[in-house]
Amino acid sequence: MKALTWQAKRTVTVEEVPDPKIIEPTDAIIRVTSSAICGSDLHLYEVLVPFMDKGDVIGHEPMGIVEEVGSAVTNLKPGDRVVIPFTVACGHCYMCEQGLQSQCETTQVREYNSGATLFGYSRLYGSLPGGQAEYLRVPHADYGPVKVPSVGEDERFLFLSDVLPTAWQAVKYANVPEGGTLAVLGLGPIGQMSARIGAHLGYRVVGVDPVAERRAMAARHGIEVLEGGEGVVEELRERTDGRGPDSVVDAVGMEAHGSPVAGTAQAAVGMLPPSIARTAMETAGVDRLSALYTAIDAVRRGGTISLSGVYGGMKDPMPMLTLFDKQVQMRMGQCNVQHWTDDLLPLVDDPSDPLGVLDLKTHTAPLADGPEMYEKFQKKQDGCIKVVLKP
Ligand SMILES: NC(=O)c1ccc[n+]([C@@H]2O[C@H](COP(=O)([O-])OP(=O)(O)OC[C@H]3O[C@@H](n4cnc5c(N)ncnc54)[C@H](O)[C@@H]3O)[C@@H](O)[C@H]2O)c1
Ligand SMILES: [Zn+2]
Ligand SMILES: [Zn+2]
Repeated sequence: MKALTWQAKRTVTVEEVPDPKIIEPTDAIIRVTSSAICGSDLHLYEVLVPFMDKGDVIGHEPMGIVEEVGSAVTNLKPGDRVVIPFTVACGHCYMCEQGLQSQCETTQVREYNSGATLFGYSRLYGSLPGGQAEYLRVPHADYGPVKVPSVGEDERFLFLSDVLPTAWQAVKYANVPEGGTLAVLGLGPIGQMSARIGAHLGYRVVGVDPVAERRAMAARHGIEVLEGGEGVVEELRERTDGRGPDSVVDAVGMEAHGSPVAGTAQAAVGMLPPSIARTAMETAGVDRLSALYTAIDAVRRGGTISLSGVYGGMKDPMPMLTLFDKQVQMRMGQCNVQHWTDDLLPLVDDPSDPLGVLDLKTHTAPLADGPEMYEKFQKKQDGCIKVVLKP
């Protein structure tokens, strides 16, 4: 089959690789019909380089049609239309029972002290071949896949794999008080959906992003928008009686614009030989923390910060004085995708499309154009906000 593979820093290519096969009785094989590119894929492209192996099949936002199931999979049959959560979880361990599927004890990657295995997401998360490919092997298919109706375009359901549950969790973890204000930093796909979910749940939402078309997309869904940059904290306070928003979602993560020093360190790590770079990545605190610092500064005293943007360093300096003095609460982490499906499925299935899921994708392309689309998405060219590949 054809698959999009990681080759080197900022280099992905389409290659011919062996078709996946059922290995465990709980596996299924799906034929992928749509597979999105995510902001998290950009970390593989740049920051997580030391944990990647040449030829890794990437991608973790797939959906498709079940081709084959293992003997222990009784909930699915060939022909079913399914969306695949990016977190691989067993559904019956202690963590899964707590709704913490991204910490699943059956699929944890203990070698790297990581949480649950993720599709297409480096050695840190189990080196499991990803879904930007014609076919995908889905472990724990007796639990993970979300069956969706056979009618309606893929894009109505596709974002159940990651964007929607991640945004839903981001807003839930932001703990916005009734009638409160939520600031969303970053209006990429995760920020777009966090903002819309915040509005859907009845909060006032202010979205911040330096990119004009991303602000425009949020604005057409009724979100107040700010360009950000210097002065953004003051602007947020001005709009909230001088206090700052009750809650802030950081949907930017370590690809943030606006901290050139860290940017250089990150670039340097990408250039080092893998073993040295890996150590640097784990210990040197090379992340770009500018969005996180904005969140800490902007949130009102006693407010909550919810991080859905991914951070990856081990020695990132944190302003403990401010966090302590302002009495800030913080929640973060990889999304527990399966935990939120029941909340989200009725919303995407609603013909009135309350979250506007059909207005997120900006680019559709065949798998063969994957490399070009990665570049376009990373550079935010051509109005690119969300790419859906059609293998
Ligand atoms: N927690 C999870 O389970 C989970 C799941 C999916 C994605 N993510 C993470 O969420 C983040 C966003 O993902 P995405 O797909 O929306 O990516 P994206 O790269 O498209 O979006 C990031 C947005 O942040 C904006 N931005 C950059 N610097 C900023 C700043 N200083 N202030 C305000 N905005 C700024 C960019 O212009 C961009 O629009 C990434 O870090 C991704 O890895 C986490
Ligand atoms: Zn994703
Ligand atoms: Zn589990």
